Amino acid sequence: MNRSSIPATLIPGDGIGPEVVEATVQVLDALGAPFEWDVQQAGMAGVAATGDPLPDATLNSIRERKLALKGPLTTPVGGGFRSANVRLREAFQLFANVRPVRTLVPGRFENIDLVLVRENLSGFYVAHEHYIAVGSDPKAVAVSTGVNTREGSKRIARFAFEYALKHGRKKITVVHKANVLKLLTGIFLEAAREVAKEYEGRVEMDDMIVDACAMQLVLNPWRFDMLLCTNLFGDILSDQLAGLVGGLGMAPGSNFGTDAAIFEAVHGSAPDIAGKGIANPISLMLASAMMLDHVGLGDLAERLRTGIDTTLNVDNVRTGDLKGSATTREFAAAVSRRVAA
Ligand code: NAI
Ligand code: MG
Repeated sequence: MNRSSIPATLIPGDGIGPEVVEATVQVLDALGAPFEWDVQQAGMAGVAATGDPLPDATLNSIRERKLALKGPLTTPVGGGFRSANVRLREAFQLFANVRPVRTLVPGRFENIDLVLVRENLSGFYVAHEHYIAVGSDPKAVAVSTGVNTREGSKRIARFAFEYALKHGRKKITVVHKANVLKLLTGIFLEAAREVAKEYEGRVEMDDMIVDACAMQLVLNPWRFDMLLCTNLFGDILSDQLAGLVGGLGMAPGSNFGTDAAIFEAVHGSAPDIAGKGIANPISLMLASAMMLDHVGLGDLAERLRTGIDTTLNVDNVRTGDLKGSATTREFAAAVSRRVAA
């Protein structure tokens, strides 16, 4: 089939980023996906290239193309620059973060098929933080402010319900801590309840306090279908979901906004294994499948997902995190053979 090319920004990122990005681009090429990549830097790679973790050239590239595939970006802990991921989400108003997980290899939990929708711009991630001095200690007290708006909460709730309708999901569990953070997460729950009324009879809604939800996800994950979370809870629980299906190497993520869509893995730059060529590239490959869905190439997305499944379970080619012995490149070559047109 002749498909016209689709311009998209490609950000290799830091740590294992360039390795999993290379692997993903290789399988997309084998698949015949028509992306025309504009390679740009961000994170520590952006700092090295331009002194800025989010260079203007990168922002301009995404602004023009409205579409990006991104490797993980390292953010210094404590001091140092502000997260380039958070800045990217703000720059393009990427308010919805969608993180699906599905069992692909036999493990502790069978038949997991869950979607987490995370509010991506608000909550404690606004990170308005400051110290208060007491006596001679200028940093005696640390204060952080969380912000959730009714409009923002309704927007993400509506996104989640629309996603449910589109993908045949039946129930959304709203995750909160409205017993303690009565205002900050209460407004999120209230907004979701309001929006849920518009979908009555089509998509069910219930709610759960975040700590209880964390336990239930281990005891009985099958009771859930979709989770709708505030920013910080969504960050935490999406890593937990990845744990249900074999780890961070298995979990794709996507950020949708009014101005762009950015696809990435849920995991970070994994400095402990960076440069060794052993990272599992499935997260980013599955993120690229979501990207194919997004641009209307669902047939290619499905072929890629099937190719990954077959490589894992028929060819038995797996990376070390899945108790296999394949390198990142060997895994990519195996998937490429399976998806080749
Ligand atoms: P991490 O996700 O990078 O690593 C956690 C553990 O999972 C490590 O043991 C790592 O080896 C393993 N792991 C992660 N991805 C893997 C893969 N594809 N294959 C095999 N094993 C994998 O989390 P960590 O160490 O907390 O963060 C490292 C850096 O990444 C930090 O600077 C953090 O800010 C950044 N980060 C960036 C994200 C992004 O760009 N979207 C998301 C999360 C963290
Ligand atoms: Mg995270």
